[in-house]
Amino acid sequence: MTTKSTTQVFQPAQFGSLHLRNRIVMAPMTRRMAQDDGIPTKEIVAYYRRRAAGEVGLIISEGTPVDSLHAYDTLTVPRFETDEQISAWKRVVDAVHDEGGAFAPQLWHTGRMGADPIGPSAVTLPPRADGTTRSPVREMDSTDFQQVTEAFVNAALSAKQIGCDAIELHGAHGYLLDSFVSPVNNQRTDKYGGSLENRMRFPCEVLAAVRRAVGPDYPIIYRFSQWKVDDFSEIKFADSAQLKVWTSALKEAGASILHVSARSATDVGFPNEDSSLTLAGWSKRVCDLPVIAVGKVSVTLTMDQAYGEEADTVTDPSSAFELLESGEADLIAVGRALIANPDWVKTVRDSSWRNLKPFDKSLLAELY
Ligand SMILES: Cc1cc2nc3c(=O)[nH]c(=O)nc-3n(C[C@H](O)[C@H](O)[C@H](O)COP(=O)(O)O)c2cc1C
Repeated sequence: MTTKSTTQVFQPAQFGSLHLRNRIVMAPMTRRMAQDDGIPTKEIVAYYRRRAAGEVGLIISEGTPVDSLHAYDTLTVPRFETDEQISAWKRVVDAVHDEGGAFAPQLWHTGRMGADPIGPSAVTLPPRADGTTRSPVREMDSTDFQQVTEAFVNAALSAKQIGCDAIELHGAHGYLLDSFVSPVNNQRTDKYGGSLENRMRFPCEVLAAVRRAVGPDYPIIYRFSQWKVDDFSEIKFADSAQLKVWTSALKEAGASILHVSARSATDVGFPNEDSSLTLAGWSKRVCDLPVIAVGKVSVTLTMDQAYGEEADTVTDPSSAFELLESGEADLIAVGRALIANPDWVKTVRDSSWRNLKPFDKSLLAELY
């Protein structure tokens, strides 16, 4: 079946040195399935191999913390720091390559949501839904700035060394880099707080340091979002002018590809300015980098509903594919639907989206 909406999605694509067999990306998804040593297990290798065998173009790993100091929230999230952890990630890279896919680890610092939280300011999160309180957030000082930057640089260099095709910096969802951009979480009065230019300074410094370390041609994906885990309705960029300032700074600092995490890939970005252009589309309009669109592809629930009692159902992904045709996105990332369907690409391409299995939160209990 080749309709207008499927002409590009299953075609190969090239972004600098990054070659992809199609336009489908596995979105980064935390699974917490390692042991406390943070070493990816053979089950984790098999999990990623299965999605590559299902013909995903680019697999972005679950967020992988860049150090064992403040970057992690739970120890069972596989980390990207020690020789043992990096060697085990190489098994993931090799497995994905064996199956014809490309692989990028998502380098993560949980910041204010970490086990021993640090952030731009001492703004502690409210108690969890079950009433348990959060550890107080410590405001970062210049030693922390240096330590965090070095941790990202070291992880990026290790990724390049073990043959990862790209890296993604997790700059979304309220975690460390994103919390600097947020005017709510960043209340600093020095050059890292206040205006948007100041709030984006630290994420851009980290990105620029990583770019200097990995060289001019290595693909760096930068993920940012309009929502965060503890406030699904947060609007970080009020209008396209702010988005332009932010995306231009990311480009200047060395980003190769933008990963625009929206509540829904097809939602309108700034309704007051344009009645149809998505956030991904706006990102492409204001900044000429390639863009990954993500959010609610072939599922019905939004992320804030996904853990509730309502059951998800499968939907036609062609409205997301249309973003490729209209030039609003270059790649489409799929999250929950790829947990439920390791062979999502083959199913949609070779039979029908109607044969997809619906996502169910119970699927998160095991790694298949
Ligand atoms: C179980 C789960 C874990 C996630 N973990 C991460 C993560 O580690 N890093 C990240 O940037 N986003 C994470 N996300 C968000 C996804 O990458 C994606 O943006 C979101 O699921 C929306 O895409 P979807 O509607 O196709 O599922 C996670 C989502 C889920 C469902």
